[in-house]
Amino acid sequence: MGTQQSHPPPPPTNPFPYLLLLTSSLVACLSLAYLTHSSRPRSSSASSPMEVVLVGCGLPKKSMGWCHLQQLLSMPGVRVVAVVEPFLLGTLDAPPASFKALQESLSPSVAFAPSLASLPDFSASTLVLICGRTADNPLLLEAAIDKGARCVYLEKPGAPTVAALERMKNISLSRTVPCRVFLGYNKQVARYVEEALAFAATEPGSTVEFIHHNSYGRGEELAECFERNAEGLLKNMAIHELALLVTFFDVRVDTLFKVEVDRSRTELLTIKGRSDFSSLSFTVTTLAGRSATVTADRCAGNLSYAVVSSSSGKEAARFSSLTLEEQAEAARLGREDPEVMPYFHTQGADYLALKTRVVDAFRTGGTAGSVATIDVGIEALKLAEFITRSVTRQLADAE
Ligand SMILES: NC(=O)c1ccc[n+]([C@@H]2O[C@H](COP(=O)([O-])OP(=O)(O)OC[C@H]3O[C@@H](n4cnc5c(N)ncnc54)[C@H](O)[C@@H]3O)[C@@H](O)[C@H]2O)c1
Repeated sequence: MGTQQSHPPPPPTNPFPYLLLLTSSLVACLSLAYLTHSSRPRSSSASSPMEVVLVGCGLPKKSMGWCHLQQLLSMPGVRVVAVVEPFLLGTLDAPPASFKALQESLSPSVAFAPSLASLPDFSASTLVLICGRTADNPLLLEAAIDKGARCVYLEKPGAPTVAALERMKNISLSRTVPCRVFLGYNKQVARYVEEALAFAATEPGSTVEFIHHNSYGRGEELAECFERNAEGLLKNMAIHELALLVTFFDVRVDTLFKVEVDRSRTELLTIKGRSDFSSLSFTVTTLAGRSATVTADRCAGNLSYAVVSSSSGKEAARFSSLTLEEQAEAARLGREDPEVMPYFHTQGADYLALKTRVVDAFRTGGTAGSVATIDVGIEALKLAEFITRSVTRQLADAE
């Protein structure tokens, strides 16, 4: 934990000892192409492709990591060099057939490994995308930094607790060359959010409601959702909107005046021993008098909205995450392959835009605009913990 930066080894003049070591290791799935290539530290340049290591691919068509992988494979100027899958290639005796097929289709140009530790040290220009389960991501980030990572795209919320994410920030800053960490909050770059914020800026005294929907069925699907996203609705789903509040409304625990839950649009359920919200709606008001509403519903479809209301409370404009044409296209893709998670189609453009901004920021050393930094991630998680306590207390008081 918190070890010193390990510098990449100098390029071997004779590659054979290195190759022998690796071929005799248990890391049978590492490809020769990756090893010989990545053992040489390279500087970031516009002409050479950026090497990307994806950690936590998960299941084809089901997991966020797989969705990122598909997009990374087609991004110009990007070369996926390795996929790390601690669960499917490590914990499980044998990966499922769909994952094996993916591995076979990408090998040997992409190395497949069960752990970050089994990869060679990263070059200065390696981007690491971490997409494990939230509880596993803190250790994965630390392992990536131990390998020399200088830029990480970390799936939101990054860690299960504020304390864990603060520790991750400290680790990222502790190395000789600090590691830049961006969080995968795709709504930060979503068109409907940008349009709503621009409209609200022209309406003095207006307020904004961010409405976030998922399309889980209320039976088994919701049970699986509660299990896979054990950090709960606020830290897993409405956290996107909390990151928006931090970034665009200066809402932080330090600036909060009050939180008011809307009980008519809130449902707390216990399924298979796990308690979580299936829906939740609340309004926050800051000490400076700014207010905004967040409404999240796990079982209400695939569209998200931003609703701008005038100072009199009347709805002035509603911005949808997809146009009618985009909805039709997403539906068509869904019919073409019903096994693919629907939100990969409905939010795919945002995921791609976010990765493009992170890749560009790493390549140029510049900023990534409204992309969430780890500081924004920490403030969003602080809000999630505070609002969970506040809402739970308000619901208990109302009983
Ligand atoms: N930005 C977004 O819109 C968005 C959307 C979905 C998920 N995410 C985030 O992406 C991350 C991954 O989410 P996901 O839905 O792809 O998760 P997932 O469970 O499908 O996969 C994540 C990882 O967990 C592993 N895994 C699968 N089953 C496991 C088990 N039983 N025990 C231990 N590990 C297991 C997978 O192999 C994979 O490496 C999370 O941090 C989540 O919050 C972000």
